[in-house]
Amino acid sequence: MRSSEDLIIAVDGTLASGKGTLSKGLATDLGLPHLDTGLLYRATAKACLDAGVDPEDAEAAAGLAKALKIDDMKPEDLRTAEVGQVASKVAVHPPVREALFQLQRDFAYQRGGAILDGRDIGTVVCPEAHVKLWVDADVETRAARRVAELNAKGDPITQDEMVAQLRERDERDKNRAIAPMKPAEDAHLLDTTHLSIDAARAKARQIVDQVRADLARS
Ligand code: C5P
Repeated sequence: MRSSEDLIIAVDGTLASGKGTLSKGLATDLGLPHLDTGLLYRATAKACLDAGVDPEDAEAAAGLAKALKIDDMKPEDLRTAEVGQVASKVAVHPPVREALFQLQRDFAYQRGGAILDGRDIGTVVCPEAHVKLWVDADVETRAARRVAELNAKGDPITQDEMVAQLRERDERDKNRAIAPMKPAEDAHLLDTTHLSIDAARAKARQIVDQVRADLARS
């Protein structure tokens, strides 16, 4: 077991479950660096779209993934519905996942610890993370959250379209052969359907504080 001073926190869950907001909040509370690993897949997707590369072409997409640098990613260009859809397509390719694996490990193992959020952090990227959270909410609630976010940015997507997109992406993420989206066996489950952002953050803090106290005693 690593030192409790180098705490690694893995936050996985479904799209628009609140895991990103929760992770950012925890990172602020704990003074830890945070990586939204979905941005890596989104940046790969955007690079495919920009270069006219077919997202079904695993090797070409992996070539673009290898060239990525975390510091060069521009979240505002990546958090669109179109890029998200293509991201879930490039994410099924083993060579793309391999290309992004080490970037994520290096971030997790930086001195002082880190928080990473994604789909497979607790199961594949950091199975040895000190704290694993699985964040989920029902599909209508998740769709309403994402629609409000995208409408505010001028994207006219409707609730029904978003529910359909979420279902399609959940299915693709859950059923892919490599690193499918699923809770780690030792993950703490957090259902945010009826929780405010602050309440979810407080629950997560309780879990982290408990793990820290246990680590300090061992
Ligand atoms: O979380 P976000 O919607 O930004 O992720 C975009 C896509 O990237 C997901 O639908 C999923 O297919 C993929 N992804 C993944 N593993 C991660 C993070 C994201 O496969 N750790």
